[in-house]
Amino acid sequence: MKREGGEVLKLEHVTKQFGGLTAVGDVTFDIREGEIFGLIGPNGAGKTTIFNLINGVYALSAGKILFYGKTIGAGAAEGKKALQLKPFRIAQMGITRTFQNIRLFKNLTVYDNVLIACHRSANYGLFEPLLRLKGTRFVKQEKALKHKAEELLDLMGLAFYRDVVSVNLPYGLQRKLEIARALALSPKLLLLDEPAAGMNPEETDSLMQMIRSIRDDFHLTVLIIEHHMDLIMGVCDRIHVLNFGKSLLEGTPGQVQNSPAVIEAYLGVQDGERCAVKEGEQ
Ligand SMILES: Nc1ncnc2c1ncn2[C@@H]1O[C@H](COP(=O)(O)OP(=O)(O)OP(=O)(O)O)[C@@H](O)[C@H]1O
Ligand SMILES: [Mg+2]
Repeated sequence: MKREGGEVLKLEHVTKQFGGLTAVGDVTFDIREGEIFGLIGPNGAGKTTIFNLINGVYALSAGKILFYGKTIGAGAAEGKKALQLKPFRIAQMGITRTFQNIRLFKNLTVYDNVLIACHRSANYGLFEPLLRLKGTRFVKQEKALKHKAEELLDLMGLAFYRDVVSVNLPYGLQRKLEIARALALSPKLLLLDEPAAGMNPEETDSLMQMIRSIRDDFHLTVLIIEHHMDLIMGVCDRIHVLNFGKSLLEGTPGQVQNSPAVIEAYLGVQDGERCAVKEGEQ
């Protein structure tokens, strides 16, 4: 279901260079509140680099990124200095993410992984945990955070695996645990980098339902990178396609799926060649 909310994230002419390589060149798009927005493209197209620019891991070479109208990153331009908010500040503002290469506390349980993530929003003093006095901020917040961790485990279908050491979880469940950790900070915008990588078709299908219910239950906006086309086409309201760091196309799943330019970018063949293959097959 597409929802026409206000603008959450805007990328204006975003460019990132690594030495002589332009990983992202002049990319512009915006995401509306409540949307599930897909970012796709062949390997090396610049998708993860865009996530790293949005969450402040990389500084922009040029262009601007705005979150709810506030600039969170901008390259130097027209006498103006570059601006870059730090990743922790951007996370506090409401952008959290998962990683293409899973990042968990491998030797901690599923529950502890989520609880630690929940603690990033705690604000009690340094000595309060030592005193453990009834009615203090620490005691109240601890109770609320533990409750939140349990809720997130339930939501992501991980309650059964609560006490399993995370390295022993099947790959698909580790990805879900990453999402639970990203949700712990109560984001407004959730960035998912290849959440279905390594999942089987059943797991991918359940993930697709989960992404929709997360969006609805948490009133979230979601930006998702994925190579798994069934998931992208099934879950996204709009999709932006990158190729060699440049924008190729933006549209609905139907528009993107039927675009010869997109098919060509993915398959790396010309229309004529594809026809020849098809004719040969018949
Ligand atoms: N820190 C870096 N230093 C130098 N080059 C980099 C760096 N990060 C990314 N690149 C290069 O930028 C380009 C885009 O990489 P990126 O990881 O964003 O692609 P991607 O679209 O996420 O690809 P994939 O689908 O394989 O994950 C690649 O050529 C990559 O080698
Ligand atoms: Mg990537």
